[in-house]
Amino acid sequence: MRIDILTLFPEMFQGPFTESIIKRSVAKNLVNIVLHDIRDYSTGKHHRVDDYPFGGGAGMVMMIEPIARCIDALRLERTYDEIIYTSPDGKLLDQKLANQMSGFENIIILCGHYKGIDERIREHYISMEISIGDYVLTGGELAACVITDAIVRLIPGVLNDETSALSDSFQDDLISPPVYTRPYDFNGLLVPDILRSGNEKEINRWRHEKSVERTRKRRPGLLGNY
Ligand code: ADE
Repeated sequence: MRIDILTLFPEMFQGPFTESIIKRSVAKNLVNIVLHDIRDYSTGKHHRVDDYPFGGGAGMVMMIEPIARCIDALRLERTYDEIIYTSPDGKLLDQKLANQMSGFENIIILCGHYKGIDERIREHYISMEISIGDYVLTGGELAACVITDAIVRLIPGVLNDETSALSDSFQDDLISPPVYTRPYDFNGLLVPDILRSGNEKEINRWRHEKSVERTRKRRPGLLGNY
């Protein structure tokens, strides 16, 4: 899978993409994440990427031209399943959407700036708008990190034990059951005995019960889907 990210702040992706699972997936060629600095696509002498809004008002607006040039150049190279814009008024990211997107071959993520991007980009270039939650971030870069992370970990081969993505919370509209590791006894706090019984069938039944119990208590809305 290839993910092209268009941003004014490529440095913001250092860290999330250069550590741990994402870093390993890139090294193993399971995903190719390509950052594009929108400023590089500005034709003006001063590499301008924003300008005053028509009609007046506060704040600057990201210009159509550099973004359009970048997207056009990428589309000449390959076709994209979706061209995504990160925005608080987009479709809310959930596990179902992450699952769908993990099957894509090529996507573009344009990091938005709320109230600040020429509407013609959204109308004519963007095929999908995604929000990561009902709150407003300073820009779309953190949202792009979250979207990328949620997708990449679902690509086959990325997680060591492929079943571990399948047993994630939300994957079957249930929250994951509690997990424990050694020691068995921490100052009198014990691990449930069933988990040490060796009876796989009973352990699975216990885990399922705990998942349902937890979901009912914490996220009853999910049970409607179950
Ligand atoms: N940009 C600003 N806030 C955002 C959000 N909640 N989701 C996605 N992109 C955003």
